Amino acid sequence: MSQQFDVVVIGGGPGGYVAAIRAAQLGFSTACIDEWKNDKGGPAPGGTCTNVGCIPSKALLQSSEHFEHAGHSFAEHGIGLDNLSIDVAKMLGRKDTVVKQNNDGILYLFKKNKVTFFHGRGSFAKAVEGGYEIAVAGATSESITGKHIIIATGSNARSLPGAPFDEQKILSNDGALRIGSVPKRLGVIGSGVIGLEMGSVWRRLGAEVTVLEGLPTFLGAVDQQIAKEAHKAFVKQGLKIELGVKIDKVTSGKSAVTVNYANANGDAVKLEVDKLIVSIGRVPNTIGLNAEAVGLKLDERGAITVDDHCHTNLPNVWAVGDVVRGPMLAHKAEEEGVAVAERIAGQHPHVNFNTVPWVIYTSPEIAWVGQTEQQLKAEGREYKAGTFPFMANGRARAMGDTTGMVKMLADATTDEILGVHIVGPFASELIAEAVVAMEFRASAEDIARICHAHPSLSESTKEAALAVDKRTLNF
Ligand code: FAD
Ligand code: NAI
Repeated sequence: MSQQFDVVVIGGGPGGYVAAIRAAQLGFSTACIDEWKNDKGGPAPGGTCTNVGCIPSKALLQSSEHFEHAGHSFAEHGIGLDNLSIDVAKMLGRKDTVVKQNNDGILYLFKKNKVTFFHGRGSFAKAVEGGYEIAVAGATSESITGKHIIIATGSNARSLPGAPFDEQKILSNDGALRIGSVPKRLGVIGSGVIGLEMGSVWRRLGAEVTVLEGLPTFLGAVDQQIAKEAHKAFVKQGLKIELGVKIDKVTSGKSAVTVNYANANGDAVKLEVDKLIVSIGRVPNTIGLNAEAVGLKLDERGAITVDDHCHTNLPNVWAVGDVVRGPMLAHKAEEEGVAVAERIAGQHPHVNFNTVPWVIYTSPEIAWVGQTEQQLKAEGREYKAGTFPFMANGRARAMGDTTGMVKMLADATTDEILGVHIVGPFASELIAEAVVAMEFRASAEDIARICHAHPSLSESTKEAALAVDKRTLNF
């Protein structure tokens, strides 16, 4: 007799492990199956986010930012340093420790919440009376059943046709986080989130970085005033960004990779680099799930088809996170995971995609929530805009980090905040206030009237709100 659960979650990334914890908190007997292995073959729950995504990338961004500060900005604070060096192996070791702490933390949370963890691949065997039989193939093979199944199998990096990842010279996000020494020349294809974050890490450590982007616009989904400011800062730092290119061929040689492409003018160009990161988006992952066995429907992109409640075409089968439509973000996956567990319990949660914040952890950081100015224009919505530069903020000046601005967009008639866009220091933290404001449907005037600590970067958000009504106090 196989073990029976109320809820079986397939995938232990941010969507899956959080769904499992919430389901267990709600009183369901819950199992979570995850196949990720650490370098010793043991379990490493946390998915892409913990193992080769959010967490390790932020660890390397932190290390490389320290290095950049030590080399470039310590001197103006009167701090002298001779013979600055970077021990890449140690930096990577620290990143691996941070990852392991997170893996262990999730295993602890499973124990604490009484979630039964299975290490292995979960796949649909068949529909059974009152649920589904799931085969688990790990060190041993077993079969479990669940009344409800939550699929949270995530996504994989998309490769360029004809240039598969070898993780030695042609790198996905995985290899990009494990480069053993600073490459002299690094190529990046795709100036999206991974390209800019990973390109920044290796540039700060001394690589010559060239980013090739297919679209003619830099960060097309970002408010273009903010994107332009960020572009200026990245170019000043030394990132070479070419827009509007068309990649013809990528050839991996003995010691270098050659990229043949047409530039924006249509001229044929040959770029030779030591390592090439390909970051051109990710594809939903249903490999090994045996979706066909139960008739689970996928869309033309290979994502699992779900309705607004993350319900699939099958009764009591749900899917969340990168494997379904919507932004591929860890916090979006988590919100969906929690919402599904609560729906199974008969509650009525709602995930508001309009208030899912985005953050790009470059320096300056870029963060936004809600609509951009170009979206509002396209909709024909009447709006007011207010901006406030960090240059005019006392805390930013004291920190020596004055690049960028806060921009607020509000409805022309009601003053409701429609979007907040930040490029600058700690944008990732500042955006939280905007998310709260928008969830509570605040007006710009509400933020303008709230007391913000002085001196703090958050005063720039208040000033941007004042700027919506053309009455900044400090600019
Ligand atoms: P995943 O995290 O991909 O987890 C899926 C899990 O399911 C994996 O462990 C996988 O092994 C397992 N699995 C798959 N199939 C099976 C099966 N059949 N049986 C058992 N287990 C299975 N997002 C942010 O919000 N902030 C960031 O800063 C950020 N940085 C990123 C940096 C990089 C380099 C990358 C690549 C991504 C980043 N992301 C970031 C995106 C984020 O990682 C994803 O949106 C998030 O991990 C999606 O969570 P998920 O639970 O849907 O899937
Ligand atoms: P992305 O979608 O952010 O960017 C891909 C870029 O590659 C786009 O600008 C696209 O126009 C370009 N591109 C696509 N095909 C191309 C081609 N053939 N030639 C040249 N350019 C091409 O995807 P990325 O950077 O791979 O990241 C995947 C996802 O992971 C992100 O969309 C995001 O959801 C998530 N992520 C989130 C992070 C965060 O929240 N800070 C950090 C890293 C990743």
